[in-house]
Amino acid sequence: MSAMNEKELTIRYQEYNSVQELDSDHQQLLKIASNACLNAYAPYSGFKVGAVVKCDDGRTFTGNNQENAAYPSGMCAERVAIFSAMADNMDTRIRQIAIAIKTINGNSMVPVAPCGACRQVIAEYEHKQGSPIELMFTSESGRTIILNGINSLLPFVFNSDYLP
Ligand code: THU
Repeated sequence: MSAMNEKELTIRYQEYNSVQELDSDHQQLLKIASNACLNAYAPYSGFKVGAVVKCDDGRTFTGNNQENAAYPSGMCAERVAIFSAMADNMDTRIRQIAIAIKTINGNSMVPVAPCGACRQVIAEYEHKQGSPIELMFTSESGRTIILNGINSLLPFVFNSDYLP
């Protein structure tokens, strides 16, 4: 008889087929994220990402991807927005992050989730502030996904609890 236990994780999220199904606060955040795509510097991938962080005090900070001829030197939209908020005030608490994209064809159907490195950064600030950060990401068609926190996107997270 084996002592192994097979376990299963379930993630919960909300999916909307169009931004019109969202309340006006969420629609407004997506609009800000979408506008932030316009200043993305993405000459190498042609894939423009915009992000907005909404803080507890209601302030918003935008970011967009900043690419570089030395590819790894670039930065994702989410981290530009998050670091900008935290750089402004180290006690900032982040309530929400919204992410939008603009592709060359302009007709993407798939909501683009944050990359692994950005998930790790979101997890850091969730852990620091002790409250979840709502994540919302959308496609150009308006299909949108909302998650109530980073846990579901980064199970078995590494954080400072592991450090001596
Ligand atoms: N990118 C982001 O800005 N955020 C993500 O979560 C995924 C990827 C950017 C990085 C790069 O400039 C381009 O998208 C293509 O990978």
